[in-house]
Parts: sequence; C-alpha cells; structure tokens
Amino acid sequence: MTSRPHRIVVLASGRGSNFQAIIDAAAGGSIQAVCAGLITDNPGAYAVTRAHDAGVPVTVVDYLAFSSRQDYEHALLAAMEASASDLFVLAGYMRILSAHVVARFPDRIINIHPALLPSFPGLHAQQQALDHGVKIAGCTVHFVTEEMDAGPIIAQRCVPVHEDDDSESLAARILAFEHLCLVEAVRLFCEGRLKLEGRVVRTDILPEQN
Ligand code: GAR
Repeated sequence: MTSRPHRIVVLASGRGSNFQAIIDAAAGGSIQAVCAGLITDNPGAYAVTRAHDAGVPVTVVDYLAFSSRQDYEHALLAAMEASASDLFVLAGYMRILSAHVVARFPDRIINIHPALLPSFPGLHAQQQALDHGVKIAGCTVHFVTEEMDAGPIIAQRCVPVHEDDDSESLAARILAFEHLCLVEAVRLFCEGRLKLEGRVVRTDILPEQN
C-alpha cells in the first residue's frame, strides 16, 4: 500500500456517469484515491458539470479547436503529464489514444467498454451484441494498449439480454454494472493487486507491505 492516496484522472467525452461513480467511490472511501482531475475533449460534456459540482479540476482539450490530430494529441499528452496522475481512466472517452500517448503511461491507463470483450469492440457495442443475437451481454474494464479495446482484461460483469431489448434498454442494464466494475478495477489498481502476466491480469496479489 502506498503512503498517499492514488491520484486518478478521468478522461470523458459525455454524460460522465462512470466518472461520477469514481467521484462517489473516492469520496465515500471505498477506493483509496483522489479524483484529481477530468480531462475532456468536449467542453459541452455533462461530465464537466459533474466535475464542477464535485470540485474536481477540469482541463478541456477541445478536439475541434486543433487543426490536426497531431496537435490535439500533443496538447492531450501535455495535459496528462501535467496532471501527475497515477492512473488514467477512460470513462466514455470517445477518441482513440495514439500509440505515442499509450506508450507514455504503460499499464496506467484503463478503459470501460460496454461489451464482453473481445466480442464487440468499437462503437455501438450494445447494438452489435443485439444484432449478433447474444443472450448474455456485459461490460469490460481493461488496460489500454495500442490496439483498440484489446488490452488485458481486469474485470467483467455480465447481464442477460431480454427478448424485447433495444440498444437503449440493454445499455441501461449494462451501465449499472459498468459503475460497479469500474470502481472494482480502480480499487484493485489502488491496492496494488493487479499484476500482468503476458496478457493475463492476475488479481490475487496481496498489497506490498511497506
Ligand atoms: C459507457 O457505456 C461506456 O462504457 C461507453 O460510453 C458510455 C459512457 O457513459 N464507452 C464506450 O463505448 C467506449 N468505447 P458515461 O459517460 O455515462 O460514463
């Protein structure tokens, strides 16, 4: 266990309910962490309102304000470095991080995805699951690697798919479990209980005794 709480910075583009789950878990003491910042590519995101309400500092790196993806990535990397965060959480961050950014923070960026990976990576995961006709859907928290939605899996939760589901009803059922799954993954990270063996994440490691 480290002597100070971990600093967590969340990257989010929209509603921010997963961001809120982390704010609440940190405030309630179920994770030994400080939610030290929100970085968003979207100044109109509701996540920004949530940050203001919780007193979490916001850095806007507005994608549309940059003339190239490279310039955007440069500013994003600078914001991430300046945050001095131990862990970055992609929580509804709807852009792909470049290999350069991922390489700068090895095993320190995690993402929540609304499907049971490796099935249904990318956009509209819940609709992909319905179109495929699966009977069980769910969510995954994984380490971020260069390849989209393909990094080592930390935690997953499953939910049933109902006959009358549409993508909205299925997304809502999954979302409740996303919040639990994401907080669990962050807690395991903060407790030093995630150990990578190849692409397998072991979680049964006891925290270091310091
Ligand atoms: C969540 O369902 C999250 O899994 C998904 O966006 C939603 C954000 O909700 N992320 C992706 O699809 C990334 N590929 P939130 O803003 O309320 O946390």
